[in-house]
Amino acid sequence: MGDVLDELFGLLKRLTEAFGVSGYEDDVRGVVIDELRGVADSVEVDSLGNVIAVKKGEGGLRLLLDAHMDEIGFFVRYIDERGFVYLSPIGGWWDPIVLGQRVRIRTDDGRLVYGVVGSKPPHLLKPEEREKVVPLDRLFVDIGASSREEVESLGIRVGSPVDLDRDTIRLAGDRVTGKAMDDRAGVAALISAFKAIDGQEADVYLVVATQEEVGLKGARVAAYRVAPHVGIAVDVTTANDVPGAEARDQVARVGGGPALTVADGRSSSGLISHPKLLKLLLDTAREAGIPVQLSILPGGTTDGAVIALTREGVPTATVSIPTRYIHSPVELLSLRDLEYTSRLIVEATKRVTKEWYEANIGPLD
Ligand code: CO
Ligand code: ZN
Repeated sequence: MGDVLDELFGLLKRLTEAFGVSGYEDDVRGVVIDELRGVADSVEVDSLGNVIAVKKGEGGLRLLLDAHMDEIGFFVRYIDERGFVYLSPIGGWWDPIVLGQRVRIRTDDGRLVYGVVGSKPPHLLKPEEREKVVPLDRLFVDIGASSREEVESLGIRVGSPVDLDRDTIRLAGDRVTGKAMDDRAGVAALISAFKAIDGQEADVYLVVATQEEVGLKGARVAAYRVAPHVGIAVDVTTANDVPGAEARDQVARVGGGPALTVADGRSSSGLISHPKLLKLLLDTAREAGIPVQLSILPGGTTDGAVIALTREGVPTATVSIPTRYIHSPVELLSLRDLEYTSRLIVEATKRVTKEWYEANIGPLD
């Protein structure tokens, strides 16, 4: 088990430390392609930058496995005369997270320029200002430059994408922390599952999608192209098993195994996992001895929501990796949960057959 977790940690570290703000996923896509080359029957990149890898089975039934490669970040919005750089958020940031972070600005030629996020000094704040969170639009990045010209000479311009500078490290036991676990943890689980899948009946399409954090965009077009019969999305979900959250409000628990999402989004934008596919996942977990949790997420959704509505409809379920502090630089999860997620996908893939489909969903075209 130790070796397996060490290997998963290495993969997760390579993926999470790569730059991959929504729409600017080139670096992380490179890591993904390196991992899949030589393992898949084919690896393609579509017009929106999605990676689509295929492992052929007997043909006839197409299973789509999806995780997203993009992470929330920023774009450079404005550079002032003294060389301070202002940011526009991409995706769902909580403002207090950002002050005091070290960031990386990616230039057009792929270099990373480092900076720190500063604000007006606290001792210059009026008492009532001190009580409040400094809004993101007042924060600025200091890259050490003294003029706009100097910033521009380093290759930074309005629109340059920005992520957080954060190493991924191991904590006590099997816990890890870093940025972009959302959803590189899902990507790591699916890459390791994809490598292990063998002798399955279904054609397995692994979609590593772009632009999830800005409206589930990559998965939408990738799923159209694949035209799957069955879909499974793997993403992180809120583990609010921390002080200040009541047990009854808990969505999932770190270390309790993958969370099978019964429903998320609480509205027309979410996904109700297909009951028959949810049952397949539950049966799989029980038979394979994999611990799982059932969860209902009150807000937010995943690529599963758009995969389900592809073409004439796709029975879809979401498998989630319980994660604390989502959308922060200190996202935290359990490597063992990650390993169980990967194994659950491998075992479930064996059970997604034409016979299962025809008995549970309908005739296969
Ligand atoms: Co997210
Ligand atoms: Zn996500």
